[in-house]
Amino acid sequence: MVLEVNYSLRPFTPSDLDGVIQINRECLPENYTSHFFINLYKRFPATFIVAEVNGKIVGYIMCRIETGIPTFKLLGITRKGHVISIAVLPNHHRKGIGYALMREALKAMANYNAKECYLEVRESNMPAVCLYKKLEFETARTIRNYYADGEDAFVMAIQLPNSE
Ligand SMILES: CC(C)(COP(=O)(O)OP(=O)(O)OC[C@H]1O[C@@H](n2cnc3c(N)ncnc32)[C@H](O)[C@@H]1OP(=O)(O)O)[C@@H](O)C(=O)NCCC(=O)NCCS
Repeated sequence: MVLEVNYSLRPFTPSDLDGVIQINRECLPENYTSHFFINLYKRFPATFIVAEVNGKIVGYIMCRIETGIPTFKLLGITRKGHVISIAVLPNHHRKGIGYALMREALKAMANYNAKECYLEVRESNMPAVCLYKKLEFETARTIRNYYADGEDAFVMAIQLPNSE
């Protein structure tokens, strides 16, 4: 059987908020207030992207652009893209949607002049770790007890095309 994959990606708009919050609550234990989502949208609209199938939102990615110490070098200050949250509804997994959302967000981060992208991921989150490895992220370090339930996080990062 051939899987029909007919999703499309577009920038988040405030009318998508309820759909995104629903996906976030269904897929992840890390949940946020409406204000948090809208604030990130207002500050970094190009890195907040939704995936739709038949007019319904099935996934999203939300990021922040930060300035700080680079993940791969010891010195200096750099502009970094930080993936805050990404999720795809379970019945749309393994259709390439998570990969496409990440690729679009990485492009948008480079357009904000970010030199690298980093994120935290639960050590046990095999699908997400595999997704980031497929995108050529590397594991930079582990943060002990990062999550509210005590689980450790991998910090994974990738250099963006416009970095030196
Ligand atoms: C992680 C997540 C976003 C992946 O979304 P997805 O749309 O299913 O991912 P894709 O179909 O684009 O998969 C791309 C690649 O990721 C890897 N991958 C995704 N799911 C996987 C799984 N269950 N097992 C192993 N590898 C997996 C594979 O390398 C896959 O490529 P392939 O299908 O060619 O083998 C999705 O599983 C999800 O929403 N999980 C719950 C929320 C979450 O954990 N978010 C991440 C928090 S850090």
